[in-house]
Amino acid sequence: MHILFHSPDEDEKAWKEELESVFPGAQMRVWQPGDNGPADYALVWVPPKEMLAHRTDIKAIFNLGAGVDAILRYRDALPPGVPLIRISDAGMGIQMAEYATHAVLRYFRRFDEYETQARAGIWNELKPHVREEFPIGILGLGVLGQRIIKALQHFEFPINGWSRTPKEIPGVRCYSGKDGLDEFLSKSRVLICVLPLTPETTGILNERTLSKLPQGSYVINIARGPELIEEDLLHLLDKRHIMAATLDVFQQEPHPKGSRLWGHPRITKTPHIAALTMRSQTIRQIAEKMQAMERGEPVEGLVDFDKGY
Ligand SMILES: NC(=O)c1ccc[n+]([C@@H]2O[C@H](COP(=O)([O-])OP(=O)(O)OC[C@H]3O[C@@H](n4cnc5c(N)ncnc54)[C@H](OP(=O)(O)O)[C@@H]3O)[C@@H](O)[C@H]2O)c1
Repeated sequence: MHILFHSPDEDEKAWKEELESVFPGAQMRVWQPGDNGPADYALVWVPPKEMLAHRTDIKAIFNLGAGVDAILRYRDALPPGVPLIRISDAGMGIQMAEYATHAVLRYFRRFDEYETQARAGIWNELKPHVREEFPIGILGLGVLGQRIIKALQHFEFPINGWSRTPKEIPGVRCYSGKDGLDEFLSKSRVLICVLPLTPETTGILNERTLSKLPQGSYVINIARGPELIEEDLLHLLDKRHIMAATLDVFQQEPHPKGSRLWGHPRITKTPHIAALTMRSQTIRQIAEKMQAMERGEPVEGLVDFDKGY
């Protein structure tokens, strides 16, 4: 079993050792330009175009992350008919839940404002937010969105969810499709975006949609930068229609020096770390899927090229 690997930011030696120990018989090699040797599977993160285009021998391509937007940008360079399989949770769900819960509680308990007050030497009790008036809206009800919901339900917030197709999730008011978006937004005081980046979701968080949120709302984007029009968010923050935002992802990463996003007192920023790929869990998941494929069984996480996720 020959496995091609390309993910330059990872410790390639550690991946090889662990993959080969979890999957006996597997031989992993780091792809180099001009590599035309045999390959059964490829494990990749943002692969160069020339890596996969001619690889008609390969049985599947595993994307080392939940989002496939980067690899689908080179869709025409992927070998036709070869399944593309994404990572499904593998330790990312709990990280997303931690991130989202931390941000929601920080705003709900007004800790962001207390931090500002403390730095200014101000001792002052603020009026608490009312839980029933603090509904959380989750954009994207897939693996990660549902994990976030599970975490937030412990704190008894009202929860709304929005997805492409209709869903029923206990304790969640579910909306779907373009027709359901405006009502979903108007009923959500905190907006958490965990949508995959597709042509349909690019720019989905813009002046028009964010204006549908109630006055004094909060925005948390932990999906992909191009889903948010940053200038529109800044404008709505200036108008205090949006009170504050927590952003893990940006149109340009890192966003340029001099951008208003850097110093903004009501934007909290992290450098695209909401959920990192966990090597051991990812390898175990991929090895199980490869073994299932070898037995001729179906596997979960197949990317639908037409939907884009
Ligand atoms: N910042 C980070 O560190 C980080 C880390 C990991 C992942 N991510 C991002 O998180 C995204 C979500 O991951 P996941 O595993 O939860 O994906 P997933 O299981 O495929 O779920 C995607 C959800 O989004 C919904 N959706 C997609 N397109 C839509 C549209 N046009 N309108 C309405 N809803 C739409 C889907 O609706 P249906 O249920 O109807 O299909 C589904 O509920 C990834 O694609 C990635 O970009 C970010």
